[in-house]
Amino acid sequence: MALEIIVLAAGMGKRMHSELPKVLHCVAHSPMLFHVINTSYDLGASKIHVVLGHKHEQVEDALMNGFKGATFNATLSDAVKQKIVFAHQKEQLGTAHAVMQALDNLDADSNVIVLYGDTPLTPKYELEKLISELNKSDMAILTSEPKNPFGYGRIIRKDNGSVQSIIEEKDATYEQKQIREVNTGMIAISSVNLKKYLKEINNENAAKEYYLTDLVSVLDTHNLTVHAVKAQDSDILEGVNNKVQLAFVERMFQKIKAKQLMADGLCLIDPDRFDIRGNLVFGYDCIVEPNVTFEGNVKLGNNVYIGTGSVIKDTVIGDNSIISPYTIIEKSELKQHNTIGPFARLRPGNILEDEVHVGNFVEVKNSNIGNGTKAGHLTYIGDSDVGSDVNFGAGTITCNYDGANKHRTIIEDNVFIGSDTQLIAPVKVEEGSTIGAGSTVTRTVPQNALYITRPQPRFIENYKRPSKIKK
Ligand code: UD1
Ligand code: CA
Repeated sequence: MALEIIVLAAGMGKRMHSELPKVLHCVAHSPMLFHVINTSYDLGASKIHVVLGHKHEQVEDALMNGFKGATFNATLSDAVKQKIVFAHQKEQLGTAHAVMQALDNLDADSNVIVLYGDTPLTPKYELEKLISELNKSDMAILTSEPKNPFGYGRIIRKDNGSVQSIIEEKDATYEQKQIREVNTGMIAISSVNLKKYLKEINNENAAKEYYLTDLVSVLDTHNLTVHAVKAQDSDILEGVNNKVQLAFVERMFQKIKAKQLMADGLCLIDPDRFDIRGNLVFGYDCIVEPNVTFEGNVKLGNNVYIGTGSVIKDTVIGDNSIISPYTIIEKSELKQHNTIGPFARLRPGNILEDEVHVGNFVEVKNSNIGNGTKAGHLTYIGDSDVGSDVNFGAGTITCNYDGANKHRTIIEDNVFIGSDTQLIAPVKVEEGSTIGAGSTVTRTVPQNALYITRPQPRFIENYKRPSKIKK
């Protein structure tokens, strides 16, 4: 039977204290709603009904055209987008009312799972259990036992173990609040039963809302059975209503990712101080020190070392490379045996060949750097094509920008650049030449030449420094 999923995402999330609709708040640089929709797709849903209300244009735009964060973009794949069917809930009158908005688009004979847009880590395997439980009952709900059940609907079971009703925190008596088993919000039911019984739910409760959770007692009055599937791990099913829960879920996500990466062979010195927001591929014997962040698509070869506090984004790092602490690398390709940092910054568009050394306080942008070239200290290399075995002295600057246009600097093999040199682009330094320290290079330096621009030194003998007059 086909599976359809309804994702509830119409609420504004008052408790987030934010202009951004709750479901667009991100976990690992991707809106919570994207996580839920991707899981729905992975489950093989034929349609993913997304119920929107509060700021629905903004959420729709994010789903269809991508979400722009402060420093990143998140997008759904086209295959996923094709499964989305929007439903609109004008007023947020409760979770049952939200589901009603999707009923018209449901097939006559499918199984339906309802998910909440604010529970981003809902695992696929728990939902698969729900679907199989539906073979033995008329409705299946996913429950958990969190350390603190406050705020959740409590599960009232019958003597035979099936579920009689769910009581919301606001409506629960003191005794009912002692129940540890809670509703995660995920349910599975046939579209036939959903369409038939949803309309029997009323809003006679403390919140004056149409609670989806009342579907359980409605089914019970018709002598239909509701089974509960208890989740293995309650933390993973934490719903996000505020920033504390958002941070908790972010950490959970990171812990899960770290565990998977370690199981696949990555050495994380401290998995509790590790962040990944994207995909990481790696070879054998890579070591990642604490507080490293990977973003976008990162690929590490064999035996790569990433030092403390580094941020690596959309980058390929080849075998036997060492990235020393506090190095920032973005959209670059590093071949083998590179040594980068500490405190180096590789901005987008670099290709570094083998055995390149980029040392502290060196910035490289949109440049190609040849084998064995070294820039040890305090240097800016931008828009440059640099050959092999070039040595950059401390304080070398490629002046690539004239205030309007960017120009390239070409430095051929075996060039030696003395400290504190400015290369005014466009300019070329030919093979084997030497630039004297303190030079400003404004014209082509021919092969094997020494280029030097330096004022002649002069002396004043027996010079008297000014001194302070004593009062
Ligand atoms: C809900 C459940 C509670 C469960 C908890 C798990 C109900 C009545 N209560 O409570 O039993 O323990 O989740 O996290 O279902 N939404 C709409 N339209 C609405 C109201 C809500 O789309 O009119 C969406 C929200 O955007 C959110 C989800 O439904 O994604 C859950 O709503 P929320 O208000 O957070 O419910 P809880 O109070 O957490
Ligand atoms: Ca919630």
